[in-house]
Amino acid sequence: MDLNALETSFDLVAPKGDELMEIFYADLFAAAPAVQPLFAGTDMQRQRSMLLAALGLLRRSLRNLDAILPALQQMGARHVAYGAMPEHYPVVGQVLIGAMAKVAGPEWRPQYTAQWQSAFAIVAGAMIEGADAELTIAA
Ligand code: HEM
Repeated sequence: MDLNALETSFDLVAPKGDELMEIFYADLFAAAPAVQPLFAGTDMQRQRSMLLAALGLLRRSLRNLDAILPALQQMGARHVAYGAMPEHYPVVGQVLIGAMAKVAGPEWRPQYTAQWQSAFAIVAGAMIEGADAELTIAA
């Protein structure tokens, strides 16, 4: 992974975090209407700030991802109760990266999309691992 590209590109959207979250959830529910009911009881304002905080933590941890893998696994385990399924992760990643590109505007480069796809695969992989472990314990 090109960590400089990940950091530079995140910093293009970081000052527009609120806009990023608005666009992300609007685009997510348009692209995958089936996931909207999962958020039926969710305080979306709080949710937007929590997702943004998680992305900020990811940005700060890019050079030491191993350190946050346990936290990502725990977060994935919590997502089992939210109704998140492994098959939901690709659309969430695609829409999130698409929203970053939209918010960044013309400064966004295709290579940033490719880099975030790699980073998201690691994040989603750790979350799904945590979810699998949770399901194994529950079974
Ligand atoms: C990289 C992937 C993802 C990240 C970083 C992420 C991040 C978060 C965070 C930080 C929260 C706040 C609650 C907590 O920390 O446990 C949350 C809640 C939630 N997430 Fe995710 N999430 C991801 C993927 C998904 C996927 C694939 C789904 C399924 C469609 C999903 C559905 C939800 C729902 C429904 C809640 C709200 C739970 C509530 O009402 O309190 N998330 N997510």
